[in-house]
Amino acid sequence: MKITLSLIKADIGGVGGHTKPSEKVLETVRAFIEAKGQYLLTDHRVFYTGDDIAVLMTHTNGPKHEKIHQLVWDAFVAGTEVAKSQGLYGAGQDLLKDAFTGNIQGMGPGVAEIEFEERPNESVMVFTMDKTEPGAFNLPMYLAFADPMWSPGLLVAPEMNKGFTFEIIDTEYLEADKVIRLNAPEDLYDIAALLRETRRYVVRSIYSRKYPDQHVVSVATTRLKHIAGKYVGKDDPVALVRVQKMFPATEEMGACFRNAHYVGGDCRGSHQQPLMPVPINSPASVHYCIPIVQGITFSMRNGKMTEWVDVFVDPFWDYVRQKAAEKSIAMREQGFTEPSMLPREELEYGGIVERLNRLDSTFELKHD
Ligand code: 13P
Ligand code: MG
Ligand code: MG
Repeated sequence: MKITLSLIKADIGGVGGHTKPSEKVLETVRAFIEAKGQYLLTDHRVFYTGDDIAVLMTHTNGPKHEKIHQLVWDAFVAGTEVAKSQGLYGAGQDLLKDAFTGNIQGMGPGVAEIEFEERPNESVMVFTMDKTEPGAFNLPMYLAFADPMWSPGLLVAPEMNKGFTFEIIDTEYLEADKVIRLNAPEDLYDIAALLRETRRYVVRSIYSRKYPDQHVVSVATTRLKHIAGKYVGKDDPVALVRVQKMFPATEEMGACFRNAHYVGGDCRGSHQQPLMPVPINSPASVHYCIPIVQGITFSMRNGKMTEWVDVFVDPFWDYVRQKAAEKSIAMREQGFTEPSMLPREELEYGGIVERLNRLDSTFELKHD
C-alpha cells in the first residue's frame, strides 16, 4: 500500500511581530486537524517554525488530494479567526485567496508531498525554514545528493552509486510549472549553473536513479510575491527528505546545513543573512529575524510515525549557531550596502525602488 506524506505550512499570525504563533492559534489548528482529519489521516503532527505553522500528515490518498488540502486550508482559516481575535500580527498572512479552490498549491501555503511504497524501515527527515525563500534548499540538496566531498554515501553505498535526478523549477515562469530534469553526476555543471540563481531556479524534487520510481525529496517552491503580486511575507519553505540506505544517511543530509550559508530573507525579506539551524518549535530571532532552519527525523510503519528526534539540538549545532551569529554580524557591518541588502529587483518593499525612480528623474546630464 502506498503512503503519502504531506507537509503544508502557513503563517497565519505572530505574537508581537513575525515571531511565533500564539498557543491558542496553534491549539486551534491542532484540534481542527485532530477532529476533522480523524477518518482521512493515518497520522499527523502540528508544530511551528518561527511564525509558521506546519501540518505534517500521513495518509493513503495520494498527493494533491482535495480533501487533504481542504482540511489544512480550513484549519488555517479557523486559526486565522483566533489570530484576528487576539490581534496577532499578520493574521492570515499566507492565505492569499478568499476561498478554497481544490488545491492549496498556489493559494499561499507551502506544500511538499511524497508518495511511496514504505520500506520496512522507512526513515524521513523534515526541514522547515522561516524568513527565507525556497532557493535556500539549493545548496544543502546539492551537497547531499551530488557531492561526494560532502556525501560519502555517493561513493560508499552501492545503491547510491548511479546518483540522483534533480527536478528544478523556474519559479519566474508563472503560467505553468516549468521544470527540467537533470542527472547527477553527468549534468553536474548544468545543475550548478541553475542552482546558483537561488531566487529563480529551485530544487523541487529529487529521484533515485537506480530506482527511478523512488521519489526522495520534495521541496515547497511557492514564491508568495508571484502569487500576491507584491511582498506579503517571506516564502518560508519546507522539505521532506527520505533518508538511509539507498538515499543519503540522516547524518549526511543533516551535515549539509552546517555551512550556515547566506540566503535571501531576514528582516523585511530584504537581506542576505546566514541560515541558522535551530531546535524544533523555535521562535524567530529579534536579531533582525535571521533566517532559521529546523530539522526532525523519525521512523514510520504503515503510515504511523514514531516520536521525532530534533536534529539540530545537540552540542555540535551550538557551534554552528555561533558561526551563524558571527556571519550574521559580519554581513550586517555592511549596513545597507550590497550584498547585505538585496539588489533592487529583489527588494520586497517598493520604498527604495520608488525613491530611486524619483531620484533618477531629477538627475541632470552634464556634458562639460
Ligand atoms: P515572515 O515571512 O516570516 O512573516 O517574515 C516577514 C518579515 O518581513 C520579517 O521581517
Ligand atoms: Mg509573518
Ligand atoms: Mg514566517
